[in-house]
Amino acid sequence: MTNWIDRHYKYIRPYRFLYGWAKDTATKMRSNARAAEWQKKGFHGAKLDICGGRNPFSPGEFLNVDVVDMPSVDLVFDITKQFPINTGVIAEIISVATLEHLRKPNVHHVLQEFFRVLAPGACLRVSTPDIEAIAKGVLAGEDVDVLNQQLFGKFKGDQTEDYDLHRWMYTADQMVKVLTEIGFSGARRIPMDIGMHDPKYTYLVSAVKPIKT
Ligand SMILES: C[S@@+](CC[C@H](N)C(=O)[O-])C[C@H]1O[C@@H](n2cnc3c(N)ncnc32)[C@H](O)[C@@H]1O
Repeated sequence: MTNWIDRHYKYIRPYRFLYGWAKDTATKMRSNARAAEWQKKGFHGAKLDICGGRNPFSPGEFLNVDVVDMPSVDLVFDITKQFPINTGVIAEIISVATLEHLRKPNVHHVLQEFFRVLAPGACLRVSTPDIEAIAKGVLAGEDVDVLNQQLFGKFKGDQTEDYDLHRWMYTADQMVKVLTEIGFSGARRIPMDIGMHDPKYTYLVSAVKPIKT
């Protein structure tokens, strides 16, 4: 098959965009079907990947929520508004490289929405760039391009620039404190073991919504 493609590539090449289009269409159809299926169940037992965007966490297992309607996104909504999800139904939330894109009051709103939609006993994991590690990196003279990207966000294109910029960051200790104030129990920093992003400049915090609030 590969040989056949190689031999005929000059004829196929002008139409290669069709491959991308077909792949994106199939991915979007699967995302829409998944969203519709969970919508029917009132999202009872669903797991959310908050702002998975182009790089979703465990697709298929977690519903990818994002404000930009990319092929891999299952649920399209702006997390700075009330989530279109009932209280106490979600089985698990992971939020990776998300909260740093929001202003402080919006971060607080999102954390409260996490608490509201999670089922009692359900787990939250939050990962963001570690502003303390970045600051130490600056003082130690580490790669300024890497540090700038961690601090201000990666440029991916004009279309999404507004959503890709970084706007605010808590330290890990502050994140633990804020989650505890909101009502989560057992909030603590855990090893950054999710296989995404550089653990040197990123932290992971976990917390649980208590069974009785
Ligand atoms: C850096 S990407 C993170 C993607 C993935 N979670 C990862 O770790 O690589 C940030 C995502 O947040 C989304 N985003 C930013 N602001 C948002 C908002 N207000 N509501 C929903 N999604 C938002 C962007 O569209 C983008 O896909």
